[in-house]
Amino acid sequence: MTVFECRRFLEQELNYQEAVSIIELVTGMDPLKQSLNRRQQLDDEQDKTIQRILMKRQSGYPLQYILGKWSFMGEDYFVGEGVLIPRDDTEVAVRAAEELLKSSAAARIIDLCSGSGIIAVTLQRRFADAQVHAVELSDRAMYFLEKNVSQLAPEVKVHRGDVFELYREFADGYFDLIISNPPYIPTAELDGLQREVRYEPRQALDGGSDGTDFYIEITDLWAKKLKTGGVLVFELGEGQFELVKKYLQDLGFHSIKGYKDLGGTVRAVTAVYRELEN
Ligand SMILES: C[S@@+](CC[C@H](N)C(=O)[O-])C[C@H]1O[C@@H](n2cnc3c(N)ncnc32)[C@H](O)[C@@H]1O
Repeated sequence: MTVFECRRFLEQELNYQEAVSIIELVTGMDPLKQSLNRRQQLDDEQDKTIQRILMKRQSGYPLQYILGKWSFMGEDYFVGEGVLIPRDDTEVAVRAAEELLKSSAAARIIDLCSGSGIIAVTLQRRFADAQVHAVELSDRAMYFLEKNVSQLAPEVKVHRGDVFELYREFADGYFDLIISNPPYIPTAELDGLQREVRYEPRQALDGGSDGTDFYIEITDLWAKKLKTGGVLVFELGEGQFELVKKYLQDLGFHSIKGYKDLGGTVRAVTAVYRELEN
């Protein structure tokens, strides 16, 4: 089979983007080279590998895990089983944080539930003088977090630990910005998710009965770690804004603002901290 025939075949079975990505993985040829070398024959080994990948992909196994990397805001991140695949949705929370950080470039920032590290790494790369921390509990996700940090932003301080415990290690009033894309899918919805998502770790998705467990706990445990005037940023699941806004108000946050994605869904919330008088 030639490169061209292979691309056409994979395109019919999957789609164009997946076809070129798989051919690039197996042959090392980027899309332009694939076009220039379209009459080149694939060898037997390449042919077999492509058939194996196609079968795996058709069973619902995520393309991102097959490729072993995925792009987020212009950088490629290592991904694989055990870590959440970066989503474009997360860009909304990162952009909101960027907007708020513009005036305090040397900020202290912590990314809770860091996964592959896309949030911590992006903020560190955009704010070189910031002190950025990343917290992750799962061993498997830690493997990818450490790898991505060492390749893309070695200044990020990585902490293995539970966000429900680790807050004790930081002084009150330490951070300018706390950001998190925590697990936020309601438990009962997990089994009905798209096939691909079911290959992703449950620990990265399960947000408790209504999906808000992490928002409540993180707000409760970490609010005091912010300076007065510091900012909390959460990525949100669909329809969670009003509920999360209420928790934030109850704990003394003000200037609470929702940020929408291109489809009009509120995907992130930012809130400014003011310590409550006892
Ligand atoms: C929704 S994923 C987000 C990953 C990453 N921030 C992103 O945007 O792609 C949530 C992450 O939280 C981690 N996690 C779950 N429970 C945790 C806990 N108690 N403490 C720290 N991390 C936790 C999961 O392993 C997973 O990597």
